Amino acid sequence: MKQLVLAVMALGMVLTGAAHGSEKLDNPGGTGGIESLRGATQLEETRPADPMKRFPRDQGVIDSDYVYQPPLIPHTVRNYEVSLNANKCLACHSWKNANEMGATKISVTHYQSPREGQVLSDVSPSRYFCLQCHVPQADAKPLVENNFKRVDSLN
Ligand code: HEC
Ligand code: HEC
Repeated sequence: MKQLVLAVMALGMVLTGAAHGSEKLDNPGGTGGIESLRGATQLEETRPADPMKRFPRDQGVIDSDYVYQPPLIPHTVRNYEVSLNANKCLACHSWKNANEMGATKISVTHYQSPREGQVLSDVSPSRYFCLQCHVPQADAKPLVENNFKRVDSLN
């Protein structure tokens, strides 16, 4: 009798185990259970948007950490259009407008052709999409822990 009970229990465990297994196989979730740096999000779920980052105004431009770093943007860039038709950044930062707008001029490198370094008469196409390189400074936590240190020459 005891043996029979044990056998039934064992069979039961095998069956529930199998059921669990196949459930996983049938529906592993849209991402197959893989997590990104921002955590796990199944494709079929709509995750709430992250809260908007705040761009504090009063902190000035944060110092660079390495030579030739594109400076961070110390102001908000919401609704600033940068497209084929318009470049809002240049309305303040171009050599023509910077003085009047009290903004930093884009440096001469932004007028150089990337390959031969010739100085062009207008902003180089390779520098047109400002936000490729410049990002607004925010109190953003690093996604990956790291021990990056500022280069000596800037310390
Ligand atoms: C309305 C005018 C205006 C517009 C538009 C504007 N900026 Fe600025 N920007 C400024 C001013 C003024 C400063 C100087 C710091 C300050 O007062 O916030 C500045 C500072 C900066 C700096 C820091 C420069 C330094 O001194 O190191 C960067 C980088 C920058 N802006 C990039 C951008 C980018 C990219 C855009 C477009 C997405 C943009 N700005 C649009 C006015 C503007
Ligand atoms: C390919 C990357 C890249 C793009 C695109 C780019 N920049 Fe820069 N920017 C840099 C780097 C690197 C520096 C710092 C070294 C230098 O001055 O060239 C810089 C410097 C600046 C500075 C500070 C200049 C100074 O004298 O301190 C301003 C302001 C600026 N950029 C604005 C802009 C604006 C506005 C745009 C879009 C029209 C733009 N940048 C596009 C890389 C870029």
